Amino acid sequence: MKLSEVGKPIGGYFELEINKNSEYHKNSIRLNTGRNCLEYILRARKYKRVFVPYYTCEVIFESFKRSNTEFEFYNINEYLEPIKINPKKNEAVLYTNYFGIKSLCVKKLSRIYDNLIIDNSQAFFDRPLNGVDTFYSPRKFFGVPDGGYLYTDKIIDMKLLTDISYSRILHLAKRIDISPESGYNDFKTSENSLDKLPIKYMSLLTRRMLSGVDYEMIKNIRYSNFIYLHNELGELNQLNISIGKFTPMSYPLLITKNLHEKLIKNRIFVPIYWPNLLKSSSKTKFESKLANNLHALPIDQRYNKSDLDKIIFFIRKYA
Ligand SMILES: Cc1ncc(COP(=O)(O)O)c(C=O)c1O
Repeated sequence: MKLSEVGKPIGGYFELEINKNSEYHKNSIRLNTGRNCLEYILRARKYKRVFVPYYTCEVIFESFKRSNTEFEFYNINEYLEPIKINPKKNEAVLYTNYFGIKSLCVKKLSRIYDNLIIDNSQAFFDRPLNGVDTFYSPRKFFGVPDGGYLYTDKIIDMKLLTDISYSRILHLAKRIDISPESGYNDFKTSENSLDKLPIKYMSLLTRRMLSGVDYEMIKNIRYSNFIYLHNELGELNQLNISIGKFTPMSYPLLITKNLHEKLIKNRIFVPIYWPNLLKSSSKTKFESKLANNLHALPIDQRYNKSDLDKIIFFIRKYA
């Protein structure tokens, strides 16, 4: 007899103590990663070809390979918006809501293109537009090991297992117990383990963790931190940012120098989006500039004004 047939377990030791409130994306299809949400869309829609920005995360190409979908690159301008795309009838456009600040552009594109896929990995709080396939990667916003949320009305006929992710949370625990530096290798191991995962449903652990998040509080902090950095550093910023109703992932600061190493020495960790573009080619001049000189400054729920003042101090010092 299976354990589940005996019924609910009662008594014994406790599980990890996590609040059981509710998730933000309650009506989505819950999968194990963002890239697998994309693979799901590609398998379901069977597009002949998809237009993909040069400026994107390398891991999404795995989704194209596994679903056997052709793609073609497009460039973006200094507003981080697409330049010249002409999809045919059975082709689609994939657009990333960069840093969570491109909600208006997403709306604009939805009026232009019939077949649009929105990558909201960097825009967790942006609700999907009606009829637009949209996916999310919650780990860019919260301390969870994996997970993806997908909105689509095209369901694929595939039996999916549920993922298991307890072995991927060592870095999350170490960061609390010891330091970010001590958990860095575990973070890499956890990230690498996502590379070849088949499409599965989100693990119960990740789902529980995402049910314990205070979303309203986080939304407010992210927005006010973003505005604070923009007021202080906006003058230095070569990127055209228009402030709107959005909840950003980070504050994208584009300057003429690359300060990543100097910031790391001061324990300010700023990711590079995306390392595959660090080498410039004639087709990716602007995108390579972004990879080299765009600093995605943290503005998340962990930080208050005095933390931001530290970031501002070092940016002004080195820029
Ligand atoms: C813009 C963007 N899209 C998609 C992904 C893939 O998400 P996941 O790692 O959850 O598969 C990432 C990062 O990994 C990303 O940065």
